[in-house]
Amino acid sequence: MKIKIAPSILSSDFAKLGETAEMLERCGADLIHCDVMDGNFVPPITFGAQAVKAIRPHTALPLDCHLMVLHPNTHLGEFVKAGADLISVHAEACGAGTADLLREIQAHGVKACAVVNPETEIEALFPAAEFADMLLVMSVHPGWGGQKFIPESLKKIERLRNHCIRIGRDELDIEVDGGVTVENVGEIVSAGANVIVAGNAVFGSRDIAGTIARLRG
Ligand code: DX5
Ligand code: ZN
Repeated sequence: MKIKIAPSILSSDFAKLGETAEMLERCGADLIHCDVMDGNFVPPITFGAQAVKAIRPHTALPLDCHLMVLHPNTHLGEFVKAGADLISVHAEACGAGTADLLREIQAHGVKACAVVNPETEIEALFPAAEFADMLLVMSVHPGWGGQKFIPESLKKIERLRNHCIRIGRDELDIEVDGGVTVENVGEIVSAGANVIVAGNAVFGSRDIAGTIARLRG
């Protein structure tokens, strides 16, 4: 499967989002991961659709918008208009409404992804596996960059990939988010993830292009 690297701009300088997006494209990133936090679903507040809109003209790369917000349904339209290519919503925020919300995202012509937090059973993603464009396994507690990868996430990724294979969706993108490093990415990919979010690993390195290449390699 194609490995895609999605640097998270959460760890970047917020005063230079446009330049950062251009630099990431030059450095070989596949997606730009935008961490939207509302101060409710997670304690911090980051940025919203206006920032995504501001980044949009600076890159042709897909904008991967990870909504860590309590009511993603009320904000969908804004992110679609802002130019999001992919919108991820948390099962913990949407509950039984997750599937409907994913369908609504897809109806806007945008790719839809469902996410689970570390304490949520991976089975919560099984219904979405039937039709979603991507599934995201959080490997840290959402809210902050630079945390340590939770090792139990590997088993969850493995079970999710096996489920996707069982239902004939072998090629479904499985994204992993949190604590990914050049050192642990190998076992994460072996477990079945193919879309790799990396904040600290990318922005904490002096050679961003080299780090992206090593994460992919
Ligand atoms: C955490 C965010 C992540 C974060 C990852 O809530 O969803 O995308 O930026 O950062 P690192 O790679 O530093 O763990
Ligand atoms: Zn994220």
